[in-house]
Amino acid sequence: TPAAWRRRGAAVPAGPQRYRIAWEPLTVPAEPRLSGRWLLVTPDGSGAEDTALACEQAVAGHGADVLVIRVGNAVERAELATLLPEFGVLAGVLSLLSLAEGSHPGLRTLDACLTGTLLLLQALGDSGIDAPLWCATRGAVAADGTEEIRPEQAQVWGLGRVAALEHPMRWGGLVDLPDRLDGPALDGLCAVLAGRDGEDQVAVRAPVPLGRRLVPAPEPAAPAPAPWTAHGTVLVTGGTGGLGAQVARWLAERGAEHLVLLGRRGPEAPGADELTGALAALGTRSTLLACDVADRAALERVLERLRDAGETVRGVVHTAGLTSDTALMDCTPAELARRTAAKTRGAAHLDALFEDCPLDAFVLFSSISGTWGSGGQGAYAAANAYLDGLAAARRRRGLTATS
Ligand SMILES: NC(=O)c1ccc[n+]([C@@H]2O[C@H](COP(=O)([O-])OP(=O)(O)OC[C@H]3O[C@@H](n4cnc5c(N)ncnc54)[C@H](OP(=O)(O)O)[C@@H]3O)[C@@H](O)[C@H]2O)c1
Repeated sequence: TPAAWRRRGAAVPAGPQRYRIAWEPLTVPAEPRLSGRWLLVTPDGSGAEDTALACEQAVAGHGADVLVIRVGNAVERAELATLLPEFGVLAGVLSLLSLAEGSHPGLRTLDACLTGTLLLLQALGDSGIDAPLWCATRGAVAADGTEEIRPEQAQVWGLGRVAALEHPMRWGGLVDLPDRLDGPALDGLCAVLAGRDGEDQVAVRAPVPLGRRLVPAPEPAAPAPAPWTAHGTVLVTGGTGGLGAQVARWLAERGAEHLVLLGRRGPEAPGADELTGALAALGTRSTLLACDVADRAALERVLERLRDAGETVRGVVHTAGLTSDTALMDCTPAELARRTAAKTRGAAHLDALFEDCPLDAFVLFSSISGTWGSGGQGAYAAANAYLDGLAAARRRRGLTATS
């Protein structure tokens, strides 16, 4: 980061340091051709039947032999790894498992769309199948600005970008489908699956598929707004953690009257006394509470307590989260759940519980791993992509959100 460069006495590189995601129209063949045997992996009983049938017919119509396997939310890695070799030599795999609804049957904080994708990737590896895996989503990305973003779909893109880094030889790509899967959209999908131009992050939209790009973002033209000031009570999840404590101090310096700092250890967290002392010296009252933010009932109890005390929360900063350093092939569903829950469930609960409350700020601490992936951090990247997706979804609903 620029701050780290400065600390080392190094010059901050010249050039743009602000970037944004852009979507570029792709040139695709009018009549894309697929060949060989393709496996279509589709969720069982999830309402994705029409999409699955349309994809099956389109892939077959563009020249491939298509075999279909239906997979339930309770599927196990070993079960899949036993089944997959029965399909013989494959030219490609198209997974619609991201369209699975609901949560993993045994892990209620984990979306089935994410577990299914992980288990399929693992089982393909276990079976020694090198055919490129394409994962289709719906509503994962805002490519043309009209989409309703679904954060649980966005997290599949976070995981997929790590799969691309960890398994480049077995990775096809991520392809986001439009709500209306008509003929041109299916042609666009098949052009993407033909994969001749190396595009691996694509949104199928009318009139042509769009490829994802990271481009320099212009500096804002308007003069910088006055420095942000905090008001009233601000809730900081992970508020006793490294960055949470920094944020708490920053908020106190900017005028927050009361900071409510949440963490599973609450006042027992290391450095808690020192932090409350520092905040008091800045004239800010603080309350440290033990609360697992992935537990909606626990979070509700905190908010009830604040309401009963006459406190109105004016800002939310969600920094709670765990990093992960497990390669995708070694990540169990339980590990995936453990590593994502605070970020994803915590953010979803905060979003729902503050839906009708006017807030000055709703800030989600995401990470660049959600934008471009990070080898060995699949769960972390997925959770951060979820946060970015949730922020986009909130803004689309007219609510404040920054990630
Ligand atoms: N540090 C960086 O360089 C960096 C870079 C990019 C993004 N980020 C993001 O910034 C955030 C903070 O990072 P950090 O470095 O400050 O991490 P940290 O020091 O490990 O702090 C994380 C905090 O989250 C709390 N927490 C974890 N699970 C929780 C749960 N289920 N419910 C409530 N609280 C929970 C922890 O407290 P308890 O253990 O007491 O629950 C801890 O206070 C993270 O979301 C991270 O992804 C950090």
